[in-house]
Formats: sequence, structure tokens, C-alpha cells
Amino acid sequence: MTYTHQEAKRYTITSALPYANGPVHIGHLAGVYVPADVYARYLRSAGEEVLFIGGSDEHGVPITIKARKEGCTPQDIVDRYHTIIKDSFKEFGISFDIYSRTSCLEHHKTAADFFKKLYDEGKFVEKVSQQYYDEEAHQFLADRYITGTCPKCGNEHAYGDQCEACGTSLNATDLINPKSMLSGAKPVLKETRHWFLPLDQDEAWLRQWILEKHQKDWKSNVYGQCKSWIDAGLQPRAVTRDLDWGVKVPLADAEGKVLYVWFDAPIGYISFTKQACGSDWEKWWKSQDTQLVHFIGKDNIVFHCIIFPAMLKAEGSFILPTNVPANEFLNLEGNKISTSRNWAVWLHEYLRDFPGKQDVLRYTLCSNAPETKDNDFTWKDFQLKNNSELVSILGNFVNRTLVLTHKFYEGKVPAAHQEVWTDVERDVVKEMSTFPERIGRSIEGYRFREALSELMNLARLGNKYLTETEPWKLIKTDEARTAASLNLSLQICANLAILAAPFLPFSAEKLNHMLDFKPCSWHSAGGIDLLPEGVQLNAPELLFEKIEDSAIEVQMKRLEDIKRQNELNNWQPATVKPTVAFDDFGKIDIRVGTVLECSKVPKADKLLQFKIDDGMGTRTIVSGIAKFYPDPQALVGRQICFIANFAPRKLKGVESQGMILSAEDRDGRLVLLSPSDIVTPGCSVG
Ligand code: MF3
Ligand code: ZN
Repeated sequence: MTYTHQEAKRYTITSALPYANGPVHIGHLAGVYVPADVYARYLRSAGEEVLFIGGSDEHGVPITIKARKEGCTPQDIVDRYHTIIKDSFKEFGISFDIYSRTSCLEHHKTAADFFKKLYDEGKFVEKVSQQYYDEEAHQFLADRYITGTCPKCGNEHAYGDQCEACGTSLNATDLINPKSMLSGAKPVLKETRHWFLPLDQDEAWLRQWILEKHQKDWKSNVYGQCKSWIDAGLQPRAVTRDLDWGVKVPLADAEGKVLYVWFDAPIGYISFTKQACGSDWEKWWKSQDTQLVHFIGKDNIVFHCIIFPAMLKAEGSFILPTNVPANEFLNLEGNKISTSRNWAVWLHEYLRDFPGKQDVLRYTLCSNAPETKDNDFTWKDFQLKNNSELVSILGNFVNRTLVLTHKFYEGKVPAAHQEVWTDVERDVVKEMSTFPERIGRSIEGYRFREALSELMNLARLGNKYLTETEPWKLIKTDEARTAASLNLSLQICANLAILAAPFLPFSAEKLNHMLDFKPCSWHSAGGIDLLPEGVQLNAPELLFEKIEDSAIEVQMKRLEDIKRQNELNNWQPATVKPTVAFDDFGKIDIRVGTVLECSKVPKADKLLQFKIDDGMGTRTIVSGIAKFYPDPQALVGRQICFIANFAPRKLKGVESQGMILSAEDRDGRLVLLSPSDIVTPGCSVG
């Protein structure tokens, strides 16, 4: 039973299908998978029938582009990432009932049948339109195969389907200066035939269903995006593409056409239900007492709130989502997470670097989830949340209770001795009884941060109670009150084991083991008789361990290296300075000289002092390149180019008679310019 949907019989919970063109990162986890998993685990614990669906989204242009770049097939790409994603979700404890993939046969069939049914019933509009075509690559340029300038915000790297800078969804023909991703050529317009979902005809019921019925219970970010879409006027949307990677359009005269990835992917939720449940699948999608909940990131809102519902409605036999709890984005150390720039914490790498610490990341991401606004993940915060919340509050309470029980009662649950209770115990019991409903309601309202902080409040209550009753002192004077104190503390531990399980499943399991406690229903939490007197507890182990600075420094260093690498990759030559007259150049006298001596200038660590044979005698030149030539002696004999007619100037007490020419590389390194053959000192450069 839940607190808010008493009439519901079962819950179909979907989580956005990640594109199989890269591994999963903390942004995906905080936005979608951690909240969805907490929700699914909670509902199961509350006794609900739950189907929690996930899978890889294996179609779409980013995958074919990546395959092209790497010289392999799209299937190779999705095989690689599907495996990484699936394995890392499993190890992280995301409790999918099924994790499948859209390249599988069952999905192709389900998606093609869905399209065919809508086609046969005349739900599509067939239109011939002009689309961009690359004449060199002989291919239509759908979606991300084309880039150009966003007509809304001026971003020069907008894609044919979307501008990532301003979030606008685009048609390729909206782009200014369109360019083919394949050949870089300017594309031409060519006629092609496609099927459109006439969303313009859906406005009335969408308005009623979202804007009226769900104004209160959908999150305001979701509601707001839907409203602005509907208010702007819905346009027919093409649901097919001229591509060869995807679900083939199941019509005789549709050679070379596939379903648009955003048409086939959400149907994946249905195909995977069929795979998981066989002939029993329909109750999850066609029964009025089923609640359908889509967990997604904010860039998926229109697809899950408008387009997919319009598809389901057109089909006619499906339910619509009860809620679409979309999160905002998570940033990493102040910058937008980016797969292409490798600016991310990848789940599979986290699991490798922090083995056994799944719950620490689950905790950090859930307590910092971008529920109402974008948020930032920092490694310092991760460490702090572990050390001063998980270790010091939750872990510490459990550990104190268990250690004392082992010390005073040989690890057996002592008697409750309610006859010696005071108001302190009565208050604790009363307060504790309110937690299951408080946390449950927060989870049901998709307020996972709030729910998690309530959970920690229960651990705080436990710590406060132990500190107040001081069983380690009581044992000398009052055995009955010692037993009462530890019994109640152990009951709090058992409550924590139940209530923490959706958020921290690995730690809850550890705690269950220590307490020799069978995981039980959410609704049995709140009480004080979870652990019977006399039960033998297992040896206490630490639930959480301190994370040292050194572990955090390794991660920070990795990010710094990536930042530097990105700067190098993005390096561009400086823009050329304004034109000068030829005569102006002629005023500068550049010569070649040979280095006779070279040494560091005393007390000036940046400077080298050169003695140069300039063909007319010798001259001294001081140059700020000491950092790049740690062994100045090695430069003796080298020929260099220098400006011979600068007015002399003093640097750290040495008169410099010219300037040595050098080039600055993209990483900031300076290198001396030398002629490629030996020339006579004093000859001119021009
Ligand atoms: N692959 C999409 C993304 O990462 C999400 C697809 S969700 C589905 O943005 F509903 F289409 F499956
Ligand atoms: Zn834009």
C-alpha cells in the first residue's frame, strides 16, 4: 500500500534508455537512474507490484557517426557500450526487472508493428518535402548529420534536430549555413517522402490532460516545458528518416527508410515489458489501475510528455503516464558534463576506483540530485558527505549500538524493560513512528532529497538518544536502563535497515546481516519490536569508511589532466593582426647569429643571457626562456634569429642588445627559431 495512490494495483516504472554510444556517467545517474531505483525499491518494499524497465537506446545518428569515425559498424559500437552500461548498472545496484536493448529482434518487431497499426488506421500524414542531401556522400542528412548556426541563439554548432546551447528543437531546414557532417559540403535540398504524426490535431486533449489535469501533481519544470510547447502551437512531426541504421519502415515502398529514433526508442519500454513478462505483459500498459511513471532528464520532456503520449493515444489501447518526474542537469566541478569532451565521472570507472562504495555515490547523487535546478557534483563534497554524514551520523550510530551490545550483552538483543522507560524513550518511540510515512510520502512525491535527509534525521535521533542515555555509564549503576537503552537503539537500527534500503541497498544488506534481520516490509517499520529479545547478533563491521584526501586528489588530478587535454584539443591559431604596409616590415632588421655563450642571469630564474656572434662582433641578448632550456650550455653553437635594431634595454642589470625570436606552441612552450641550414652569422632574414 502507498500513501498517495491507494487505488493503484501496480506500477510500471521506466527509466530513459541511455544511448549506447558511450558509458553512463554521474549526470545520468543523478538525473534518472538513482531516483528511479529508489522509487522502485521503495514501492516493492511497500508491497506494490512493480515492473522497472531499462535498456540501451541503440539507434540514432550519434551511433552511426561514431562508427564511421572509428571505422567499425554501428552494431560494434552498441555491443561495446551496451555491455559496459548493463554491467555497471548491475554492479551499482540499479534493480531493473529487465535491461534490454533496442537493436534486438523483439523490439524491431514491436516497433514496426506499432508503426504499421498507426499507418493502417490512417493516423499518419504522408508528405513529400525538401530535405538536405549530401551529394558527395549520396545520403540524406537527418538530424545530427547536419550542423549549422542556430536561428534562435546564434550557436554555430547546432544540430539538425536540436541546438544544445539553447535547447531549442529544430528542423534541419531552420539552420543558417548548414554543413554536412559527412563531407563538410554545403548540402542541397532534395525531395523525399515521409510519414508525420499530426501533433497539431492533438492540442485539445493534451491541453486538457497536462495543463488542466496535471497542473498540480507534475513537477513545475516539466509542466512549464509542456505548457510552452503547447502554447507555441504543435507541428506535425516526421517519424521516419532516410537512414539505414534503425527499425526499417515496414512498408513495401519504403526502401532506405527507418523509424525516427525518438519514435522507436520509447516503444522499447513496451518491447522490454513483453520480453520480461511474456503473454502477461498487457496489464502493465493497458490496465487503468496501473500507474505508468517515466523517469527522465529534462532534455527528454517533450518526447515523454507530448510525442510518446500522442503515439500511445493514436494507437488507442494504452494508458498514459501518471507522472513524468524529469530532473534538471548535474554539472561536474562547475562545468557541464560532456561525453565528447570526456568531462564526466564514468560509472564503470567509479566502480573500479571505489570498489564496494556504491552507496557512497548513491547517497551523494541522491542528496544532491538536480530536482528543481541544475546542481554541481564536486569530489570535495563527495568526500564530505561520506566522512561527515555517512560515517559520522549513520555509520557511527549503528557501530556504537552494536559494539556496546557485544560488550555488555555478548551480542544478544537485551530485554526492552519498558517498565523503566522515561519520557525520553516515549518521545523517541513517538517520533520514530512518524518516519516511514514521512519518507514514503516524500518518495511518492518524487522529493528524493527530502526523503533521504529524513532518513538521516532518524539516524540523528538514534545518536541523540544514545548520547542522552549514556549506556556505557549506566551499565555501572542501572542494568535495566542499560538494557532498555540498547534495546531501543537496536530497534532504531532495524528501522534504519528497512528505511535505508531503497537509497543504500548495499549498506542495508550489511546492516541486516549484522542484526540477523530479514528484510521486511516498509509498513512494518516505525515499530519497536522488530528485533526480539535474545537474538544473537553478528559481529559488528563498519558500514562506511572514511575517504582520505589522497583518494580525492587522484580524481581531481584526473579532471585537471582532462581539462588540459581539452584546451590542447581546442587550440586555434591566434587571429591574424591588422594588415601593415610592406615598408613597416622592412624597418625591422632580423639577423642570424651564432650562440657563443649562454647562461642563467643570476637572481632572475626566467632569464637567459646569450653572447651572440652577429658577424660584426659580439652582442649580449637577454631572453625570458630559461624555463624551456634548463641546460643553457647545450645552446652553445646553435644558430638563432634575432632582431638587431631594437633600442638596448636593461634587464636585471644586464643590457640586452636585441630580441631572440621564438615560437610559442599551443601548450605554452617556447622554442627558439633557427635556420634549417648553417648560414654565415650576420646575414639578414627577410
Ligand atoms: N536515448 C535518449 C537520451 O539519452 C533517451 C531515450 S528515452 C526513450 O536522451 F524513451 F526514448 F527510450
Ligand atoms: Zn540555439
